[in-house]
Amino acid sequence: MDIFSRGYCGIWLQMASIWFVAVLMQNFRGSLSTSNYLIGLGSYDITGPAADVNMMGYANTEQIASGVHFRLRARAFIVAEPRGSRVVYVNLDACMASQIVTIKVLERLKARYGGLYTEQNVAISGIHTHAGPGGYLQYVVYIVTSLGFVRQSFDVIVDGIEKSIIQAHENLRPGSIFVNKGELLDAGVNRSPSAYLNNPAEERNKYKYDVDKEMTLIKFVDDEWGPIANTLINLELLKIPRRVSSIVPNINENRKEWMKVAASFKSSQGEPATRFSSAAKRVRNSLRLANRPQFVSAFCQTNCGDVSPNVLGAFCIDTGLPCDFNHSTCNGKNELCYGRGPGYPDEFESTRIIGERQFKKAIELFSKATEQLKGKVGYRHAYVNFSNLDVARGNDVVKTCPAAMGFAFAAGTTDGPGAFDFKQGDDKGNAFWRLVRNFLKTPNQEQVNCQHPKPILLDTGEMERPYAWAPAILPVQILRIGTTCHSQCTWRVHYHGWPAPS
Ligand SMILES: *[C@@H]1O[C@H](CO)[C@@H](O)[C@H](O)[C@H]1NC(C)=O
Ligand SMILES: *[C@@H]1O[C@H](CO)[C@@H](O)[C@H](O)[C@H]1NC(C)=O
Repeated sequence: MDIFSRGYCGIWLQMASIWFVAVLMQNFRGSLSTSNYLIGLGSYDITGPAADVNMMGYANTEQIASGVHFRLRARAFIVAEPRGSRVVYVNLDACMASQIVTIKVLERLKARYGGLYTEQNVAISGIHTHAGPGGYLQYVVYIVTSLGFVRQSFDVIVDGIEKSIIQAHENLRPGSIFVNKGELLDAGVNRSPSAYLNNPAEERNKYKYDVDKEMTLIKFVDDEWGPIANTLINLELLKIPRRVSSIVPNINENRKEWMKVAASFKSSQGEPATRFSSAAKRVRNSLRLANRPQFVSAFCQTNCGDVSPNVLGAFCIDTGLPCDFNHSTCNGKNELCYGRGPGYPDEFESTRIIGERQFKKAIELFSKATEQLKGKVGYRHAYVNFSNLDVARGNDVVKTCPAAMGFAFAAGTTDGPGAFDFKQGDDKGNAFWRLVRNFLKTPNQEQVNCQHPKPILLDTGEMERPYAWAPAILPVQILRIGTTCHSQCTWRVHYHGWPAPS
């Protein structure tokens, strides 16, 4: 099961990551005339405790870290107008960002840089890996299976983000930014396709697919450094983070070669991935090549919560037949239904294949990105109480209510079963779990009505003991570079008296 399918992460990424679906940094010599921004990048290790800590995402007590497959990193990108505002985007190899992590990072940035980087212009997001240590969030629901807060997880993420931003800040150099978009069709599927069909037809008709298949790539081009030769690539995959990095001879002609070299690269253990030194910036000698800024790329998420890399579909492990479409069950039981990745039954191979598909699409978009971003850098930030929002539905205005997890939540998705005998799409519930639930918190009639037809398993939005189980107030954030409006024109969103776009 995935405790963030429609929760914290979903909201965060839709608002925060739209401009950074994929971010790559490239360097070009002698294109000074085109530069219009200052660009800085940084990358730092955030691997954290590699053993005996529950991993974040599946809420499965048995998924305990027992070694390192690929190290995890924070990657920071700063874009500034030479004499204007700036934005910071940090992509974490973690399931999601965490408000308490953000608060700590901002505290440190304030001590270091005064008012330059604040909650307003710093956005932190995660790649939604389920293979990173948990315990770094402050709400009870998210740390039940990690048996509480894990200081080591928290500290390493805070430290890594801070260091990656410091690097990016110290690297700020003139450059230009290009954007490109394309469809990536074979790397993700909707993991609750039957639930999706419950959306009204007129809404579904607006979209070609039942998940967002568009990849948006943002390419950063440095004014001073040579073409892409000898740059270093880091990239993340969808589920289990995997990083490949390499010295690249020619990005366009030698893709295959590049992939081979990239795959053989060992990640630097806790070392910064960028090596800008202020001396090296200017000294053009034989050492220059060695000190050339390395390529930093981040594969950032958009609508992660709905997307599964198990693209072959969900099958029963006993019969090998597809699971029941509406309930993800096999013969009425959900324990036997599992999603299959393209490398089935090898999950590492599936990870590699999905990663390669994303990587190839990114390279294609990267090599053809010609639309230049121009104009102001801007940002918007608001804390929004999601437990009491007005939402327009047709001509009506309806209200949200405090968060609650339904019985169907515990059933998991087509990716894999949840615990016990919960079923996807359950709108009745079961007496035993209702009893357990009541022991924790009995939802009042107003909440039951508001959540109807979903039967409430855990009334998380109203559970405050020993402290808050789920957030009510969430940050909503938009970073913007340039004034071109693309299909996902989030700038038109207005919250809480945000000024109109300029
Ligand atoms: C799934 O449920 C819908 C709505 O109840 C129903 O129309 C459909 O036939 C079901 N599909 C399958 C494969 O059971
Ligand atoms: C959020 O809104 C709810 C419903 O109006 C209210 O009860 C709650 O106190 C609010 N939360 C905060 C932290 O303001």
